[in-house]
Amino acid sequence: MTQEQNTLSFEKVLAALQRGDLSLEGEFVHGHNYTFLIQVQNQEESIRAVYKPQKGEQPLWDFPDDTLAHREASAYLVSQALGWNFVPPTVFREDGPYGPGSVQFFIDHDPNYHYFNLRDEDFQRLPPVVLFDLLINNADRKGSHMLFGPEKELWLIDHGLCFNVDEKLRTVIWDFAGQPIPQDLRDDLVTFKDALGSPSEWVSAVEEHLASNEISALQARAERLIKMDYFPYPPQDRRAYPFPPL
Ligand SMILES: Nc1ncnc2c1ncn2[C@@H]1O[C@H](COP(=O)(O)OP(=O)(O)O)[C@@H](O)[C@H]1O
Ligand SMILES: [Mg+2]
Repeated sequence: MTQEQNTLSFEKVLAALQRGDLSLEGEFVHGHNYTFLIQVQNQEESIRAVYKPQKGEQPLWDFPDDTLAHREASAYLVSQALGWNFVPPTVFREDGPYGPGSVQFFIDHDPNYHYFNLRDEDFQRLPPVVLFDLLINNADRKGSHMLFGPEKELWLIDHGLCFNVDEKLRTVIWDFAGQPIPQDLRDDLVTFKDALGSPSEWVSAVEEHLASNEISALQARAERLIKMDYFPYPPQDRRAYPFPPL
């Protein structure tokens, strides 16, 4: 599945994630929270997905309890509305094997290829990732939270720590600081801001996952970003890099 192809295959995968039968296959040992590989069976279609049950979320002082899975689903919705389509289809399921949680399409990838050893051609694809993280206020963009799929597509994962109302941006990607923000990406942000500002099915979906003050903060960040001419520098008054960086 590539971003370009895509509306159709995204929709098919999304339908399977929303309605398919879920069965456990294995557990990822590297995550911070409990993260499972699952099999999703929907009619004749069978796909793999990553399931993060709310029960397995580590409590955090600065994020409300039991909300990380909803943030994962929200990041997918935002990526789609921007037309950037780089978050794998992600849904919130009430009926996961260990209860409510997020279910995200599994991307085949080489875990040894990541931000810290990217080829230049892939590195040049990161500016929209930087804007996405500014927009969703991503507190944890580690070097391994970008995956390159079988057809060299770029995918972004691990958005549990996003959409806080306070400034939390922590990312390894500060390389573009001071460079102009490309006009086509700014246009996409305007489209996004307009979409968030008028009622639609998509807005209702966002409202199922985020609190109203989080949606207002998202709107305010979109408005700020649209007015920015250059990629920002890391803030000096707080930690701007995630730990560990990979
Ligand atoms: N959609 C995905 N496709 C493939 N692998 C994934 C996907 N989501 C997570 N993973 C794998 O699971 C690991 C843990 O997931 P992550 O989202 O980082 O969880 P945590 O919230 O625990 O930090 C990742 O490092 C990655 O190897
Ligand atoms: Mg992680």
